[in-house]
Amino acid sequence: MSASPVPTAVAPGAPPAERLPVSLPELAEKKRLGEPIVMVTAYDYPSAQVAEAAGVDLVLVGDSGAMTVLGYPSTVPVSVDEMLMLCAATRRGLRTPLLVADLPFGSYEASSEQAVATAQRFVKEGGAEAVKLEGGAMAERARAIVQAGIPVMGHVGLTPQTATQLGGYRAQGRTGARAHEVACDALALQEAGCFAIVFEAIPAAVAHDLMERMEIPVIGIGAGAATDGQVLVFHDLLGIREGVGARFVKRYADIQEEMVAGVRAFADDVRTHRYPAPDHTYSIDPDELQEFRARLGS
Ligand code: KIV
Repeated sequence: MSASPVPTAVAPGAPPAERLPVSLPELAEKKRLGEPIVMVTAYDYPSAQVAEAAGVDLVLVGDSGAMTVLGYPSTVPVSVDEMLMLCAATRRGLRTPLLVADLPFGSYEASSEQAVATAQRFVKEGGAEAVKLEGGAMAERARAIVQAGIPVMGHVGLTPQTATQLGGYRAQGRTGARAHEVACDALALQEAGCFAIVFEAIPAAVAHDLMERMEIPVIGIGAGAATDGQVLVFHDLLGIREGVGARFVKRYADIQEEMVAGVRAFADDVRTHRYPAPDHTYSIDPDELQEFRARLGS
């Protein structure tokens, strides 16, 4: 007897109120059916609301937030407490997409106990439903977190937390030997019980060949079209930060320009006394105004 189908949370075009929260079995089912999985990053209440309204499947509170919203030069300096604040704000803006939080650098590598304790904080304090960690070398940490009852997403290829070791922010797996290492990392994380995995910045042909071995959903970013889904950083896809970004970034809007134009127009209006206009001000009953003036004068 075949298992009954998993209900689809996001019927394309369905109004937000009708959607059900996305579950892990539903993601597995999407992979089985070949339905592309959509993930975006979010870091606060408004970006979460945008992701919710757009009907994505997964939201990642990525440690890319260290750079996009906190202004650090890399993902390395961000602390657990800073990530928790971003995660809790994102939680408040989300209802249906599955919420995954990045474990920041230094918060899970030392021991399985440390990894489990940090993951628990993201679930209890941040409202995350799953956590993400980087690198095949962390497979045992992933296994411990999964055994503690928290779903884990892996991340291989370009792993920004260890970018220095990888020679910088550059594509990985471009030699046969290095591609094999990426494959071993992915298989180790899969074997450790991860429910999904991110492939970042690896050749499309390497990702394609590796897909045959992947039983869990693979979300690509700069890994070609063969993966089960795609993720982009919110600020990259909407053009909320300056610069061209990585090769894989596709811009769907230019919000930064819109925001600068909006603030500049406000500044011009203030400086030329066009704002506030009478429509933007509150009135007071003339008798009350008279009384006020009398009191002020006394
Ligand atoms: O931190 C992040 O935004 C990420 C994505 C690029 C997958 O890890």
